[in-house]
Amino acid sequence: METLQSIEAVRAWRGSGELGFVPTMGALHEGHASLVRRSAAENARTLVSIFVNPTQFGPNEDLAKYPRTLEADLKLCEQAGASAVFTPNNEMMYPPGFCSWVTVEGLGDRLCGASRPGHFKGVTTVVSKLFHIVEPTRAYFGQKDAQQALILRRMVRDLDMPLELIVCPIVREPDGLAMSSRNRYLSEDERRRAVGLSKALFEAQRLFKAGTRTAAVLRGQLIITLDEYVDKLDYAELVDADSLQPVTEIAGPTLIAVAAWVGGTRLIDNVIVAP
Ligand code: PAF
Repeated sequence: METLQSIEAVRAWRGSGELGFVPTMGALHEGHASLVRRSAAENARTLVSIFVNPTQFGPNEDLAKYPRTLEADLKLCEQAGASAVFTPNNEMMYPPGFCSWVTVEGLGDRLCGASRPGHFKGVTTVVSKLFHIVEPTRAYFGQKDAQQALILRRMVRDLDMPLELIVCPIVREPDGLAMSSRNRYLSEDERRRAVGLSKALFEAQRLFKAGTRTAAVLRGQLIITLDEYVDKLDYAELVDADSLQPVTEIAGPTLIAVAAWVGGTRLIDNVIVAP
């Protein structure tokens, strides 16, 4: 597996065959490995990028302390079947005078966008730039970041980016906690309580399967369960899985999404239900 440290190196390496691309911010875990494995199975070669993108962090967020574990990340990429890893730095991604942004309007204002203003503008801009550099055939993202995946899918469609965007299932710990790079911030007690997010979602899913269709009822149940476990709720929402508009009765594919603080760590998780 090669490590590519410049945009020029990626362009020289790219060639013309089918290329799968897995953009990441490092601190990789089994969820990322599942994306790399899927890409390696579906493409001649797979490139993983590792870049902690400063423009998607707010001023009071965890940019400075975001885990950086390059050596372990490279090992995971190689074992999962990556052909190369691209590790750009801030100077090449945001050269002096950088002032061009990609925004997907509307979809980024709700859910995570409401508590993280500017976050999705940072994501769409960096991912667009990476797509231009890498020119992938297919790009792989995790369903855990459901709103990110939806926004990126819309960006690819609206701007006719010549690639297929593939969203892969959430990978969970045995107790249900969705894998996340931020789980490593959790103390032992917080780790035990972090399972509250998936517990709440699975309970809502169970009620839905048993016939409950009223969003307020399901939301009430989510909040009761979350209150038992988390320190602060950010949101618990039932929204149309395509438009992200709130639903009152579940009549089509619906995203049930939660975000909550456990100690100093903000965690997110979701399930999709469909009648
Ligand atoms: O999901 C992530 O890790 C990041 O948001 C991404 C897509 C790599 C952009 O920085």
